[in-house]
Amino acid sequence: MRIGTLARTIAESPTLALNDKANQLKAQGEALIHLGSGEPKSMAPIDAILAASAKLVSADVKYTPTAGILPLRKAVIAYTEQHYGRTVSPKNVMVAAGAKPALYAALAAMVDPGDEVVFPAPYWVSYPEMVRMVGGRPVVVAPPDGAFEPLRGDLEAAITDRTKAVILNSPNNPSGAVYSRDLIAWLVELCERRDIFLIMDDIYHQLVFDGCTAPSAFAFTDRPIDESRVIVINGVSKVYAMTGFRIGWAVGAREVIEVMTNIQAQSTSCPSALLQAAALGALQGDQSGVESLRLTLMTHRDVLVRELAAIPGVRVTVPKGTFYCLPDFRAYDGDSMRLSGFLLDRALVATVPGKDFGMEGHLRISYCGSVREIVEGVRRIRWALDPDSPRDIHIGDRLCTRDW
Ligand SMILES: Cc1ncc(COP(=O)(O)O)c(C=O)c1O
Repeated sequence: MRIGTLARTIAESPTLALNDKANQLKAQGEALIHLGSGEPKSMAPIDAILAASAKLVSADVKYTPTAGILPLRKAVIAYTEQHYGRTVSPKNVMVAAGAKPALYAALAAMVDPGDEVVFPAPYWVSYPEMVRMVGGRPVVVAPPDGAFEPLRGDLEAAITDRTKAVILNSPNNPSGAVYSRDLIAWLVELCERRDIFLIMDDIYHQLVFDGCTAPSAFAFTDRPIDESRVIVINGVSKVYAMTGFRIGWAVGAREVIEVMTNIQAQSTSCPSALLQAAALGALQGDQSGVESLRLTLMTHRDVLVRELAAIPGVRVTVPKGTFYCLPDFRAYDGDSMRLSGFLLDRALVATVPGKDFGMEGHLRISYCGSVREIVEGVRRIRWALDPDSPRDIHIGDRLCTRDW
């Protein structure tokens, strides 16, 4: 078939593919532990469910304005005021069917063929593919070995006359790192001085631990919003445990939001009316679920870090946010695809290879499941890697052999 050459090069999402495989194994009755998942297990807020139900029952489920219904954009404005101390107008907000399409629209709005988009490793799997899908060239900046924050000098060296945007995701998927105020402040100044967009992917911004906050780029620009180069991407998926609801948004200068809205108009028309009602319910409703999710994740993080510490040679950087950890397994295998495949086949534990995030030799381990899953999953990893552990064990009905 005459599929487009560029389209053919776009990789499938490794995390979504892993989910499919994990679900398949579970459906076959295997005692799989899924430590690769990217979504909180808690229920969506009741206010979201009631709002969506009321909307459905009203039967008034029609097209909405492309950038989203005004009450939802106003709720996003209130959210931006509360969390970022920034007052914006409805023209600075576009609601989309998730943070992912909001990001895609932002890149499509600014990238010309051959333009470069810079982002640090480890990065979210979709950034390189999205940049290439809009005709751009991804430029990855690796951190120093053993660290998850890039050096200023390395970022600056990666920025050229072709750089259209820098993407920063903090708290970071997959490392759980929260970038320092210094780095973000410096980058805001640099991007605005050099007329480069700074896309802040803030999808995990409320999921932070140990009293830390994720510094916001908006705090470091004194330009009026319509002259700022900062674009903040956010959504209800992670913080409100609403991944399947598919609502996200972008906040930025009117000029770029307008172009993004045109792109959305010609591609999806608008996000679902029903799910916009749900997101409005979540934003305006009881917020206690966010705090209880954060506290649960922090406890799970502690359990995971403690369990991983029992595997000799595995280097763990304690995550400051999100629900991911990116331990370094190079003491066992520098090839994360092989290691992750081995753990899935031999120990029925799903992890995501660090290679997919630009961090070879590491595995992304999620702690959004139950404590039982975290403890059992890491114990299985330890069994599979420890040359002194019993060679054969039963996992569920399967006899597993540790054949490294
Ligand atoms: C860093 C990052 N940005 C964006 C998204 C996408 O969020 P949404 O579900 O709102 O599209 C994810 C989801 O995994 C993510 O990890």
